[in-house]
Amino acid sequence: MQAIDLRRYRRPLFFTGAGLSAESGVPTYRGAGGIWAQYNYEDYACQRAFLRQPEQVLEFHELRRTRTRACAPHAGHLHLAQLQLQYPRLSVITQNIDGLLQRGGVAVAAELHGSMWRLRCRCGVREDSAAGPYARWRCERCEAWLRPDITWFEDAVDADVFAQAGALVADCDLFVAIGTSGVVWPAAGFAQAARRTGAYMIELNPEATELSALYDRHLRGTASQLLAQWFS
Ligand code: APR
Repeated sequence: MQAIDLRRYRRPLFFTGAGLSAESGVPTYRGAGGIWAQYNYEDYACQRAFLRQPEQVLEFHELRRTRTRACAPHAGHLHLAQLQLQYPRLSVITQNIDGLLQRGGVAVAAELHGSMWRLRCRCGVREDSAAGPYARWRCERCEAWLRPDITWFEDAVDADVFAQAGALVADCDLFVAIGTSGVVWPAAGFAQAARRTGAYMIELNPEATELSALYDRHLRGTASQLLAQWFS
């Protein structure tokens, strides 16, 4: 089969999940070595846990940040950045919170689940804290516990971010999912939405997912290998 010719599409959209970061050494959430196989999200990554034991939640996220900071974007991230330079109408939306796409030079139109590099307070204060450990664990303004600016389980998603992403999905004529299991909603619903608009659907994943039936083409392998092999 010949490579996918992006010139044939008006509005290509790439939708990425944790599998895109796997080759950089950042663990996925599900499958072998997945984060949720090691940690119960109810103790570390939900508002209830944060209210119950904020230090434990912040320590968990600080550990993930330290490990992720030591990882680097891989060839797949860099290839995606090159594709965006060649095809300026190519949009990328991500479920990933690790910032590796941005570090690899990719312009990300929507971070659907927030970012591990930001903190926020209930009083509205937001802090960027990518360079090193959290500068503080309590808000400078109101002294409440700061929480990672991440959409946790049981959280409402950021309506503005999802509206922005939804508009791109509604307008795309090529929908390429890279490294997502498609089991977390409402983000997983974007594949159905793209299908409904008649976009050509391609799934890049070493294995089948619950949403594989929605896709016209299934490219099996790792993100960096498939991006280089099929998109030029
Ligand atoms: N290249 C491409 N895909 C890969 C690779 C790889 N090298 N390695 C694993 N995968 C695939 C797996 O087969 C799986 O389908 O990546 C997917 C990872 O699935 P998840 O761990 O469920 O990640 P994701 O789909 O992004 O999870 C969605 O769940 O926990 C929440 O908020 C979190 O954003 C996350 C959401």
